[in-house]
Amino acid sequence: MAQRNVSAANFSIADIDRALENPIPPSFIPDLTTFEDKFRKTSPVFEKLLFLKQEFYRSNSEVDAGFEERRRRHAEGHAPPGSYYRKGYERLFQEFEEANGGVFGQGKIQCFLDMGCSPGGFSNWLLENNENACGVGITLPYPQVAKHPLAVDGSHLKESRYHVQYLDITRIVQDKLAQGQAPLIPVGSEGLNGTRPYDLIIAGAFSIGEGNRAWWERIHLVFSQMSIALCNLSPEGDFILVVNTKPFRWLIEVLRLLRLCFRTVSSHKGKELHAIRSSCYIICRGFIAPEADILAYIQSLSNVLAKLGRFVLQPPPNMISSRDIEQSGLPVQLHLFPDLSDDILFQEERTFVLPLLERAWQHQFDVIRTDLVEKGSSTRHTSSAVYRPPQQRTIRSPSAADTSNWRQTERSYPSQPPASGSRGSRYSFGNPGAADGRDSWRQ
Ligand SMILES: C[S@@+](CC[C@H](N)C(=O)[O-])C[C@H]1O[C@@H](n2cnc3c(N)ncnc32)[C@H](O)[C@@H]1O
Repeated sequence: MAQRNVSAANFSIADIDRALENPIPPSFIPDLTTFEDKFRKTSPVFEKLLFLKQEFYRSNSEVDAGFEERRRRHAEGHAPPGSYYRKGYERLFQEFEEANGGVFGQGKIQCFLDMGCSPGGFSNWLLENNENACGVGITLPYPQVAKHPLAVDGSHLKESRYHVQYLDITRIVQDKLAQGQAPLIPVGSEGLNGTRPYDLIIAGAFSIGEGNRAWWERIHLVFSQMSIALCNLSPEGDFILVVNTKPFRWLIEVLRLLRLCFRTVSSHKGKELHAIRSSCYIICRGFIAPEADILAYIQSLSNVLAKLGRFVLQPPPNMISSRDIEQSGLPVQLHLFPDLSDDILFQEERTFVLPLLERAWQHQFDVIRTDLVEKGSSTRHTSSAVYRPPQQRTIRSPSAADTSNWRQTERSYPSQPPASGSRGSRYSFGNPGAADGRDSWRQ
């Protein structure tokens, strides 16, 4: 197989900056669907980020070595205690508070739901800063499935005003759907105090060392959390959702839905957490959608969730690149707004979505560049690589061989789908290395 002749190359930052100053070579072809490519063509920020990642970051041997070192330290039991990670999420929530003019603390929150709550940073911040608030957390059972526990020591998480359900969020929604019921989440041990009791819902669940998840499992988790949010959020309530920042059609549909439901929608990328990851938090304030619209959106989510649920029993075929998935035609079945063509959706949402995502892309670009500057300084004397644009090199097309490392985590596609019919296999397939620092709390 032809090898990428730049692999393991460390370029000087001057080389990188020079390459970025010039127009991106037309021969640079990122792994995007036709829909996603509309965003690249419209956003120089996105294009430069893709170029920086694909041409320089992924081929930097120091980056791989750093991830490898972190994985080794975790495997040898040198990982920091859970409270260390919890405090990182507390600091992140403090950033949300400051960026939003102090709306989540000082007793302003009465009752919150925190999905994917371990290690407990967001919940603990909310309990600490709202002394009369009650909260419900949902997280995967530890150690059976989750790799990291709720870090209760020295926190408010043991208090009677906080209740944790150790459950899989996708399973909660799937079971309720099968019974024809809404996924209502009771408040504490008292059961449901009327419908839509929460004035803040956080949808912060994503895989942390539980194994790489297939693209459809990721959609399943986001749509399940959305469904719970729409069914349980009180009028004028707030919602925080963690999302990937690649402009998948399904993500743009989610953002559209949020735009239609909330007074304001903004994005936030953490200063330390999520800085290098292709992810950010979407902060939605003021749940104002009319009841009839909410029911229609819940129905639309339920339709897609029913289809996604069937993938658990019969996973779609192995698909490595975005283009493979596009060509399979599967995503069309998963549209939340099936009446909107790609063109119309892009036209209608671009002015809303681009500023949200560009903020996250620019931040990620700056952090990656800084990381490369730091790594460059440690490898300056050994680097002999000269950057050549893509047309002067042999680049192999994406293949399963590419997916055995962090590039897979970034791209989100499995090299092996789970065994057909195996419900439990969803947490065990894929690259075991994903339980390392690449998929760690800190990114
Ligand atoms: C990044 S952590 C969230 C950190 C948390 N917001 C905090 O403040 O500490 C993501 C969490 O989501 C959990 N998770 C992932 N998939 C889940 C699922 N299907 N159901 C419930 N929890 C899930 C993971 O186990 C992990 O604890």
